[in-house]
Amino acid sequence: MQTERVIAQPSTVASVTQRAAEIIRRGGLVAFPTETVYGLGANALDATAVAKIYEAKGRASDNPLIVHIAHLADLDRVARDIPEAADKLMRVFWPGPVSLLMKKHPDIPDQVTGGLDTVVVRMPSHKVARALIIAAGTPIAAPSANTSGNVSATTADHVAADLGGRIDLIIDGGAVEYGLESTVIDCTTTPLAILRPGSISQDQIQAVIGPVELLTDAERPRSPGMKYRHYSPHTPLTLALCSNTPFNEWLPQYVDGRDTDRIALICHSEPTTTNVTHYPLPADPAAAAPLLFDTLRAADTDAVDEIIIEGWPEQGIGTAIMDRLRKAATRIEE
Ligand code: TXA
Ligand code: MG
Repeated sequence: MQTERVIAQPSTVASVTQRAAEIIRRGGLVAFPTETVYGLGANALDATAVAKIYEAKGRASDNPLIVHIAHLADLDRVARDIPEAADKLMRVFWPGPVSLLMKKHPDIPDQVTGGLDTVVVRMPSHKVARALIIAAGTPIAAPSANTSGNVSATTADHVAADLGGRIDLIIDGGAVEYGLESTVIDCTTTPLAILRPGSISQDQIQAVIGPVELLTDAERPRSPGMKYRHYSPHTPLTLALCSNTPFNEWLPQYVDGRDTDRIALICHSEPTTTNVTHYPLPADPAAAAPLLFDTLRAADTDAVDEIIIEGWPEQGIGTAIMDRLRKAATRIEE
């Protein structure tokens, strides 16, 4: 399959999304930018179209997809028995990077939800994503637009590298704003539970709704996707937490002890060794997040045998970054 690629600029958003919407309506696959990461979209009401998403990504069929809508009026087409808490959260955080788990509407095919009775719904704020959903006139099921298990795509180039030749169209809307996937909240339990930490923090959610649980990895079978290895570069990744020894003392010792000098180092401290290819990232996790996946992909080249990444404090967005890095890491240095 030939994958077409088009650029969405302010002056072309309308025409580009019209074309893309036609592809969605006839059952095709379109990658599009959102404020979190790029999504790989299909008509959420078309089981055959949705099946193509799993095939293109190589995704396990029991790992459900998020359904994207553009207006609150569309919610009743995809979910039912909306909990009061979900209603409150969507009024504050939508459109934006928060996804809410609710009871599914019978029209949503089992292919979207992995056979579950629930559906995760999100209303993106990105102009292109919104224009596409509106033009398609249907809710759009979209996972992150990467090969299953790989780091999510935050640019159109990332999408093309993973899915080129497997999907109909890529809409290039430039780099994304947040760079981490949305926060997924189970709204059917008391207290509510964060199934996946994301760009909106537990504190921000609690400020609206009161106590919310942040599930540990062990509890996450409630979110089928969390059991799979995720966000991983192909190169072995060492995550340095340095809870006891400071990073700048640990680093040279560790690098000296490795039997390769082909090491990429992603860090926000000053590197205390020169035997590495250095990729700097900001110390502020909110500033680092939009650059994180691009940097992991850049470091993940044939020229290195190992990537070392310095951890961030697990607060605010740091919690979401560390969730991704703990899953990506092949080795964690406590
Ligand atoms: O920011 C985002 O959420 C991006 C953009 C494209 O919107 N999408 C995204 O989708 O990250 P994906 O498929 O990569 O991650 C969706 C997560 C998975 O961990 C999946 O298991 C979980 O949400 N999920 C979806 N539906 C679910 C359901 N009914 N019950 C439990 N977990 C669900
Ligand atoms: Mg994903």
